[in-house]
Amino acid sequence: MSTPHNEAKNNDIKETILLPGDPLRAKFIAENFLTDVKKFNEIRNMYGFSGKYKGKDVSVMGTGMGIPSIGIYAWELINNYNVKNLIRVGSCGSYQENIDINDIILAQGASTNSNFISQFNLPGTFSAISSFELLSKAKNIADNKNIKVNVGNILSSDIFYNDYPEVWKKWAEMGILGVEMETYALYVLASKYNVDALGILTVSDSLVTKKEISAKERENSFTNMIEIALELA
Ligand code: HPA
Repeated sequence: MSTPHNEAKNNDIKETILLPGDPLRAKFIAENFLTDVKKFNEIRNMYGFSGKYKGKDVSVMGTGMGIPSIGIYAWELINNYNVKNLIRVGSCGSYQENIDINDIILAQGASTNSNFISQFNLPGTFSAISSFELLSKAKNIADNKNIKVNVGNILSSDIFYNDYPEVWKKWAEMGILGVEMETYALYVLASKYNVDALGILTVSDSLVTKKEISAKERENSFTNMIEIALELA
């Protein structure tokens, strides 16, 4: 059933979906990695496509930036379209000296400064974790391809331009590997609705060294991340 944000019909979207933040990246993935591609959404230019990867059905759709945006699209993919495996493919900033630009992080868990969980009125704090099945599969795929990955906890932040620019060090001290703005909501919704989710992130910048990835480097590390994600289909 279509929604105010997604015009796809019932069976247009496959059980496994890759979720980049940028809808143009969804288009790039569909055009460069998939065959038999069919576009299912263009409401708000939040492009979504289904196609095949090595003969297997897979979809890819943008989520926009931030927990509210991915919260809308992921909720609908799960509840309106029966999607079972939601794999975020995004970028993040590194909080650790030993994690460099271009490195890949598998988000075993996601911490947050967001209030997203408050809607559930839990009598305590909630640990947002990835699907063990997707995580262990992704680690195996990376090992088999000789791609180094870092596995651990990340921060899904509501704030990009922080008024207290050094606050990231508090999270770094707690072992947080890096920062992005979406994965926490994905893990909460996957947990609530009993589906599988994983965040796979490429490090685009480092808060430690202040280095940023170049356009060319972005392409290569991005390809590794997408190939890991697509092998999960
Ligand atoms: N902060 C938040 N989100 C991000 C960053 C960052 O430094 N880099 C990539 N996504």
